[in-house]
Amino acid sequence: MHSRIIIWTMAMLMVSSVWGEQEPPTLYEYFASPNGENVTGLVAEIDGFKLNARPLRIISGAMHYFRIHPALWRDRLRKLRASGANTVETYVAWNLHEPRKDEWDFGTGENDNSVFLDIRTYIQMAKQEDLLVLLRPGPYICSEFEFGGMPSYLLRDPDMRVRTAYQPYLDRVKVYLDNLLPLVADLQFTRGGPIIGLQLENEYASFDQIELEYLEFLQQTYWDNGIDSLLFTSDGAWNGDKGSLPGVLKTANFGGDAETSFNDLLAFQPDKPVMCMEFWCGWFDHWFENHSTTTADGKGCGNSRSYSWPSVQGFCQYLHGTNFGFNAGANHIPEYAPDITSYDYDGPLSEAGDYTPKYYRIMEAFARYQIPVLKRPPLPLQSRKFAYPTLPVQTYLLYSDILEKAPASNKFQIQDRISMENFPINEGSGQSQGYVLYRKAVNIMGSDVTRFSAGRVRDFGLLIVDDELQPFPRDENGTVQYWLNSVQEYDLTLAEGEHTLDLLIENMGRVNFGALWSFDQHKGLAGNRTEVEYYHLNGEEIRDIDVVSLEFKSSWVKNLTGWRTNDGAVPLKAPVLVQSSFVIDGQPSDTFVDMSGWSKGIVFINGFNLGRYFNVGPQQTLYVPAPFLRFGENTITIFEQLQPHDEIKFSATPNLGPTAVRKFGQYGPLHLTQRGH
Ligand SMILES: *[C@@H]1O[C@H](CO)[C@@H](O)[C@H](O)[C@H]1NC(C)=O
Ligand SMILES: *[C@@H]1O[C@H](CO)[C@@H](O)[C@H](O)[C@H]1NC(C)=O
Ligand SMILES: *[C@@H]1O[C@H](CO)[C@@H](O)[C@H](O)[C@H]1NC(C)=O
Ligand SMILES: *[C@@H]1O[C@H](CO)[C@@H](O)[C@H](O)[C@H]1NC(C)=O
Ligand SMILES: *[C@@H]1O[C@H](CO)[C@@H](O)[C@H](O)[C@H]1NC(C)=O
Repeated sequence: MHSRIIIWTMAMLMVSSVWGEQEPPTLYEYFASPNGENVTGLVAEIDGFKLNARPLRIISGAMHYFRIHPALWRDRLRKLRASGANTVETYVAWNLHEPRKDEWDFGTGENDNSVFLDIRTYIQMAKQEDLLVLLRPGPYICSEFEFGGMPSYLLRDPDMRVRTAYQPYLDRVKVYLDNLLPLVADLQFTRGGPIIGLQLENEYASFDQIELEYLEFLQQTYWDNGIDSLLFTSDGAWNGDKGSLPGVLKTANFGGDAETSFNDLLAFQPDKPVMCMEFWCGWFDHWFENHSTTTADGKGCGNSRSYSWPSVQGFCQYLHGTNFGFNAGANHIPEYAPDITSYDYDGPLSEAGDYTPKYYRIMEAFARYQIPVLKRPPLPLQSRKFAYPTLPVQTYLLYSDILEKAPASNKFQIQDRISMENFPINEGSGQSQGYVLYRKAVNIMGSDVTRFSAGRVRDFGLLIVDDELQPFPRDENGTVQYWLNSVQEYDLTLAEGEHTLDLLIENMGRVNFGALWSFDQHKGLAGNRTEVEYYHLNGEEIRDIDVVSLEFKSSWVKNLTGWRTNDGAVPLKAPVLVQSSFVIDGQPSDTFVDMSGWSKGIVFINGFNLGRYFNVGPQQTLYVPAPFLRFGENTITIFEQLQPHDEIKFSATPNLGPTAVRKFGQYGPLHLTQRGH
């Protein structure tokens, strides 16, 4: 270990003497070839990384283009660079880029997420901001993201085994990589761009069905698409090298104790620089939990021992932004646990891009350990935050209006219950996200109690009889027992005659981490599964079902008409859509919608789905980046599932709920049995 550190110290001295007292160069001035020829990419040598034959300590931060409004990309990248980092790392979200099978969207589509998807511009912008890029195309990315970034249409194949060498999976992976990689190949450092390395898969050693042919297939597909940069894998070092390939650089992910993980890594890879791909300097939240925080010092981000190793990178989950729309993932810990909308990681930058104490701690550490010493931009200003005036609920659409206005193509009949992925919509891709309604019209003869039972709903169930929401049971202390990923029974007293029994199920996000079984994530009511499933009326399986697929696509929400005026005379009943408008007279500011008076649902700003709220917390406010607002009239639309409130409030500060300080053990947060990233 000693000789390693000495070589690096000498390299640092040489670098600082070359540039002496003059202003240091920018990154691209330093690493460029004089004539732009014979550029060598990133090389991992025993004494450290070399870029274009010069020593480089990679100091990177994770910033996911699909979690930040593109108008704010430059601000966030500059803040990263101003902290002293020289590299930005991003995952690529396959499921957003292929919203329907064989339909590709790299920012030019008309999909709800299209605004985020111009990945080429993001990578080019990183170079303009004097940053290098590490690209992590997956195809599986974990990332607390819906289904680990994989498209849900894969689940239409009942034999699907994602993340393995199962041929139909590899076939789709190849189509994805063949669409993505040609778009970024010319952005590699070796061809004048910023990309210095690409990752294969993600934390594959944590998976329970490792098939190395799959990794080999990924590697070959990268090469076939002109990728000649350094390839790497990233895993918990305690898992050894079983999730990697010979010749591929192994990097470590951890929180807390750097030394143990680096020693583990060196034990199986003694001839390469040690590198941390993800240093968890914070953590994410599930609904029903408190907001995770970690301290800025000690073993967290401010721990300089983590940075002083010969070559280390990617210490902090820098800023993660927001799981907009329905994009949040979930875990099994061991029960289903969906992630919240905010992806504020208690990192160096907050969800809204504000500096936190950790930012200044890492800036100090980066200044001490950077190789080479480079010119940094000044710290950009923070955005202005504003609490827009409170609005009354101006208009609404009843539950029956919503169903009536659902697109005709999203209303159909099925004989036996099937999951949303198998619905005959979206040109053979099924329904990926949102809500699904299974409706049964019944004719009651006698006056006996009718027993309705169904489950396991995936994920959040509501029973609505003749348009009336049925209350959840309460426990002995009066606490509501939500119908979440379980079976529920209702004893109904129905008068003679016709009734509609509606089972409205919300997909709260597919699991993004775990074993193969946890990626079996059919949503709605699964069909014939191995475990016990019901959809019963008086003990008999319900058949011949009317389905309404409620995707809440932006184009549909924006186009809704026939709003009823809310005069406040009669309290509104959920499920309900409400809408109010407000005027912004000037430049819009960042704001937060305060949903603490509401119960559960989703919020749209000018038709864009900001994401879920749920009063179980921890999160109580939803971040609205200023670029989603406009000068003049703005519209806010809320779909409330349980109990609407009569006004809509804004706040100038986020409320992510009561905090809980999280401690890390050797491998991750102490109380989690399964970890995800
Ligand atoms: C670039 O590489 C070519 C082929 O290896 C070599 O002939 C040439 O001298 C190199 N040029 C420079 C400037 O190093
Ligand atoms: C109800 O409250 C009592 C007293 O706090 C507690 O002991 C009990 O476990 C609670 N019951 C449930 C179902 O949470
Ligand atoms: C389950 O499978 C059995 C046998 O194939 C079939 O009879 C039954 O209708 C199926 N039930 C559902 C709900 O799909
Ligand atoms: C918008 O509404 C009109 C009239 O109801 C309808 O014809 C059209 O298909 C709708 N467009 C979308 C994108 O839903
Ligand atoms: C969560 O926060 C509440 C309110 O501050 C506190 O009473 C509770 O103990 C916290 N729970 C955990 C697990 O930290």
